[in-house]
Amino acid sequence: MDRVRDKVVLVTGAGSGIGRAAARLLAAEGATVIVTGVNRAGGLETVQQIAGPNSGGRARFAEQDTSREADWQRVIDDILAREGRLDGLVNNAGIAGPFPSTFESETLEQWRRILAVNVEGVFLGCKYGVPALRASGGGSIVNLSSLAAFLGTPDLAAYGASKGAVRQFTKTVAIDCARKSYKVRCNSVHPGVILTPMGEGILPSEKARERTRQRIPIGDFGAPDDIAWGILYLISDESRFVTGAELVIDGGMNAI
Ligand SMILES: NC(=O)c1ccc[n+]([C@@H]2O[C@H](COP(=O)([O-])OP(=O)(O)OC[C@H]3O[C@@H](n4cnc5c(N)ncnc54)[C@H](O)[C@@H]3O)[C@@H](O)[C@H]2O)c1
Repeated sequence: MDRVRDKVVLVTGAGSGIGRAAARLLAAEGATVIVTGVNRAGGLETVQQIAGPNSGGRARFAEQDTSREADWQRVIDDILAREGRLDGLVNNAGIAGPFPSTFESETLEQWRRILAVNVEGVFLGCKYGVPALRASGGGSIVNLSSLAAFLGTPDLAAYGASKGAVRQFTKTVAIDCARKSYKVRCNSVHPGVILTPMGEGILPSEKARERTRQRIPIGDFGAPDDIAWGILYLISDESRFVTGAELVIDGGMNAI
């Protein structure tokens, strides 16, 4: 019940899928959660699920496009003014773009948009999050990368490149913060195929879904909560000695 008791945690893109599951679990374990994203209706629904009349958790919504620097400044300033501290940051917001998108079919505009959200969004999160975490005595950042960071992704060219960048950049932030004694940890989480709006978008037919399911050693897709438990561990003090690590949660796909 109290694994992240009284921590203030910002979860981006928490209006659906993995972000919502992480926000709910963190709140259930005692955190105050700042739910942000471009999906206002979804974000408000997440807050309702956490802090509604029969729920008893603590959460509020803030509109935020993670690819916009001004949004990061506003959101972090607001948290420091209202909650007075920041202990955890989950850089979860992400987009995959149209499916399939090969390196030949991808437009430059689409490539740039995917990298703006998935890579620049994470860069800005760390740039503006770290000073706030430091000012609060230290904290933990979790960056959502993907199984795609380890493999070629011919049907998701820009997406795979973006998640490879997140995997590498996470280690840079982790080591820089550790060497400077900032007391800020930074780790990446690598989901396999998870049934969320994004996951379903890349499995357009029942046939495609079945074919993919058969490639998963554990024999089924993951659920958003399977990822949220990993995020909870990395945000909590249970992982105090863990930084620069890659937490792969994929039903075994990366092991074959
Ligand atoms: N579902 C999977 O199979 C899978 C696998 C590997 C990695 N991931 C990663 O997990 C994270 C969450 O994905 P999901 O599966 O829950 O997908 P999702 O589409 O349900 O959630 C993504 C959320 O990010 C929000 N978002 C998009 N652009 C944004 C922006 N510019 N600013 C703020 N919010 C924005 C969306 O509104 C949405 O709520 C993503 O980073 C994704 O790449 C997902």
